[in-house]
Amino acid sequence: MFNLGILTLLLVATTSAYRFYQDEIPNGDHVPHPCKPNYLWWGVGHGNPLGGGPRNPFGQDFARYHRWTEELCRLDSDGDGMTNGQELGDPNCVWTKGNLPQESTGITHPGVCDPWGSDKCRVANKAVTCETGEFKCDGINDQDVMNITLRFPLTAIPAEETTYMCLTFELDMLEEDSEYHLIGSKPFIDNANVMHHIVITGCDATSSPLRKPGVCNMAPTGCQKTLQTWTLGMPGECVYREAGFKIGKLAGITRLNMQFHWTNPQKRTDYMDSSGLTLFVTKQLRRYNAAYLTTGQMHLDIPPRMPRVVKKSSCTAECTRLIMSEPVHLMTGWNHMHYLGYQQNVELNRNGEKLRDLTPDDVYSYDNPTVYEYNPPVEVRPGDSLETTCVFRSTSRSTTARYGEGSFDEMCFGIFTFYPAEAIEMSSCVTWDDVDLCRVNGTSLNDCDLMIFFNPSHPQRQRLFSKVLDNCNVYGGCRSECPAAVEEVRQHPCLRGSMEAYIGDLKQNGVSSLEVFKFFSALESCDCVDKPHTSTWRYPVSGAGGHTAVVSISILLAAFTMMLP
Ligand SMILES: *[C@@H]1O[C@H](CO)[C@@H](O)[C@H](O)[C@H]1NC(C)=O
Ligand SMILES: *[C@@H]1O[C@H](CO)[C@@H](O)[C@H](O)[C@H]1NC(C)=O
Repeated sequence: MFNLGILTLLLVATTSAYRFYQDEIPNGDHVPHPCKPNYLWWGVGHGNPLGGGPRNPFGQDFARYHRWTEELCRLDSDGDGMTNGQELGDPNCVWTKGNLPQESTGITHPGVCDPWGSDKCRVANKAVTCETGEFKCDGINDQDVMNITLRFPLTAIPAEETTYMCLTFELDMLEEDSEYHLIGSKPFIDNANVMHHIVITGCDATSSPLRKPGVCNMAPTGCQKTLQTWTLGMPGECVYREAGFKIGKLAGITRLNMQFHWTNPQKRTDYMDSSGLTLFVTKQLRRYNAAYLTTGQMHLDIPPRMPRVVKKSSCTAECTRLIMSEPVHLMTGWNHMHYLGYQQNVELNRNGEKLRDLTPDDVYSYDNPTVYEYNPPVEVRPGDSLETTCVFRSTSRSTTARYGEGSFDEMCFGIFTFYPAEAIEMSSCVTWDDVDLCRVNGTSLNDCDLMIFFNPSHPQRQRLFSKVLDNCNVYGGCRSECPAAVEEVRQHPCLRGSMEAYIGDLKQNGVSSLEVFKFFSALESCDCVDKPHTSTWRYPVSGAGGHTAVVSISILLAAFTMMLP
């Protein structure tokens, strides 16, 4: 009835009908999954717990009332001693559609007996299963496929909303003089209450391994190549039969880093976890080497209480020409946003015309993502463009959501696996607003040398800074000679168009100094108060977190942070 697992690859099309209910009840868009608090009930595929059905008392009640009424609010549909209003954050039954409910935390499911697993609920919840789907992958049964299980030791989970934790594993079970392909992985989820995602990255000989689980916002230095990922709701990764991710000493990958993202919104102190993955590895090399590519937007600013906020990002024709040395073939693709994600798609275009949709999620489900398998794989040529569109819905939020790594920050990425790996060196084609981050060249971006801009003793930077600081006020007021100076300075590649806001964002990234803050303050002293980018300087493009595919940019940033005086 209520299979909370689902999770076959190539998921069945979901109807958007249950989205309707999100608006009709208080906190309807973030009712937690009954047995896994970091899942949401509407993300769980099979229909709608509120929509009726014999095993769903609240559903029947809802079917009777059709909308949130005081009477429905005062009922205890699941018989667990809490009224529907208490469970959904409307204890006084005063909520009306379109308004923020009285409480937004401690929400429980009105149709499932709480606390889950307690004696009184065991019988009532018999029909609700929490199993995950089955991992199916023919390739792992081939001869010569061996498996390697990597798991964290039992580790206490910090009482934090979001934690990234890394641990490095040596690949000393592999023969030094052989090449290997990694062809799939199956998660072992020990504590489903908190596991949000796992990323396996390959480490080269220069990496310094983490021998004990340690907090990490980025994969450790030298461990940047994404090899496998698991995210909430996936049964495992099964690589297309003609490709594999190269590992082993000959491939320059001698160890693997495993990064966990735990979500612990209730900040519980008693959670432990020893999750991990089983990797499937073969010496029978497949025809192609595989790799990851990420598209999407790294600058997000989603106002609260909006039914629909659309963010776009283009991996332009020019970018694909820059980053691709030959055509590639996409094997899989999926969308990645966080809790406010509503719809997403990545579109493939050629010669300015749409060829196809790659990841058309009409209903995006954060905790039950659709993995699109392309069989045959989809060709992308240099000169094609990849257009990512993310639709967010923030009706239940009272504050702005920005780009960031926490589960309650937002993201907008299309994630793809492709072959041949050799065709694309840079693993991402993302933008920051409309700044194409594909144009990184050494320490330069769009001809702006970031090393110069953030180096206080460089004469070029000194000239630029003096121009502004000598002509403009740092603390308030527009001086008459300032506009001309600013106009000139804004011709500089580091301050042209959206680059100014991009650099402004970086200044929060630890690469900054008081002088940089003064410079920006002076630079903007004559701008209108409603200039859009000035309010968006909070979240830097720092660590790639779980999204190590975006690492090339992060490496660049990490590089400055280290090199600056
Ligand atoms: C790993 O390999 C062993 C021995 O070949 C086998 O018994 C086991 O079932 C495999 N584990 C998985 C998860 O496939
Ligand atoms: C990258 O920068 C170097 C010098 O800094 C320049 O010679 C080269 O042409 C640049 N490459 C591209 C693709 O712009």
